[in-house]
Amino acid sequence: MTKYIINGGRPLHGEVEISGAKNAAVAIIPAALMVDGVCRIENLPQISDVSTLLSILREMGADIRLINKRTVDIDCTHIGTSRATFDMMRRIRASYYLIGALLGRFGNADVAMPGGCNFGGVRPIDQHIKGFTAMGAKIGIKNGIVSAETGGRLRGAPIYLDVVTVGATINLMLGAALAEGMTYIENAAREPHIVDLANFLNSMGADIRGAGTNMIKVRGVRRLTGGFYSIIPDQIEAGTFMAAVAGTGGHVIIKDVIPKHLESISGKLREMGVMVRNLGDSVIVQRSGPLLKTNIKTMPYPGFPTDLQPQISTVLCLADGTSTVTEGVWDNRFKYVDELAKMGSSIRVTGRTAIIEGIQNLTGAPLKAGDLRAGAALVIAGLCGRGETIVEGVNYIERGYEKMVDKLSSLGADIKSVFVPDEPMYSRRNAG
Ligand code: EPU
Repeated sequence: MTKYIINGGRPLHGEVEISGAKNAAVAIIPAALMVDGVCRIENLPQISDVSTLLSILREMGADIRLINKRTVDIDCTHIGTSRATFDMMRRIRASYYLIGALLGRFGNADVAMPGGCNFGGVRPIDQHIKGFTAMGAKIGIKNGIVSAETGGRLRGAPIYLDVVTVGATINLMLGAALAEGMTYIENAAREPHIVDLANFLNSMGADIRGAGTNMIKVRGVRRLTGGFYSIIPDQIEAGTFMAAVAGTGGHVIIKDVIPKHLESISGKLREMGVMVRNLGDSVIVQRSGPLLKTNIKTMPYPGFPTDLQPQISTVLCLADGTSTVTEGVWDNRFKYVDELAKMGSSIRVTGRTAIIEGIQNLTGAPLKAGDLRAGAALVIAGLCGRGETIVEGVNYIERGYEKMVDKLSSLGADIKSVFVPDEPMYSRRNAG
């Protein structure tokens, strides 16, 4: 088992480069399945969700060549199967994008139900199913496999999403790109990675308009052909580093970002007494004074992202006064609060709101990450806390953050990743 050992209390200083966006990469890799010819994808983050998806495509018969650490050529021309039911599919949420990609390409799909982070609530896919059904697919779920069948091609249709969902917007856009006729996705999500996927598909010959607004119009085309694409920077990784600097204090230039994607977090950090300045494709974050309380509600983009909720809540543990953080996207995303309590935090959760009483210091403790962003929050807590914090469950963190330990170390953090062999059975028995 790998653990992170952090000696907290050191302000962060220096420069850090942000990697390509996880949630764009995990949509664009399945999209490559719909393309005839070679897609060269650049700026891929080196994270385990990306390597899992590449392995899934390889298992299906794709020719995948790593050009360098961040660039890959994917050629799915000769894939002849619409089945993707491997066990590794259950490791990641984004495996469900194979439903849209396979339905678009073959008109049918058998795909293992997605896994991925479980924050404690249900992660339904009813809106995906509703959309594909409107496009003429017959869908059933049996023994953990989603089977979808059209008997030919998906047919374009008007689809109104009952909730703003990133996953359904992406999945339906994938299917619609190769469907017959026009699809209108109303009440679509507007996240930057949705625009990135539309740009990728359009650069391969799709006809998608309106991505980034709540009405996406897709005119289905017969064929997508290969090309080059470079993934946008990761809004959430950037926001995580911004939150870390806010928590520890210091001065960091966060490079290779799109500052517009960070407006909601920049705005909140300014309210909290943190200096945030945009400079071209960097943001500069500095804090030397006290942290101030604030109130936050997470919302779909351009609102404050749910994927930064645990990180910012952790920082607010150290603000003067009482803050509230309301989760507006997921039913339950506060499980990490029990871990923060071990460091002395004072957070009360009622329904979807956390009431956070600011305290002077967090105290280092052994902690366990239960999901990706909760893991990032615990790392921030360790960086801010006094003494030693040990974070377990780092496999979650490494699903979505590239070289987090190296990046934080380069900013002056005292953090290391250590491999601890699992305790052998006999010593556990002897331990009484
Ligand atoms: N929802 C439904 N029905 C559906 C789909 C979603 O009711 O068919 C609900 C969900 O229960 C939730 C809300 O709609 O309350 C939003 O869910 P969404 O579909 O937008 O989430 P997702 O696509 O499963 C992606 C990200 C998540 C991120 C959310 C919200 C990926 C692979 N995952 O999940 O990212 O929290 O959008 O922005 O893109 C993460 O990166 O740590 C992460 C969990």
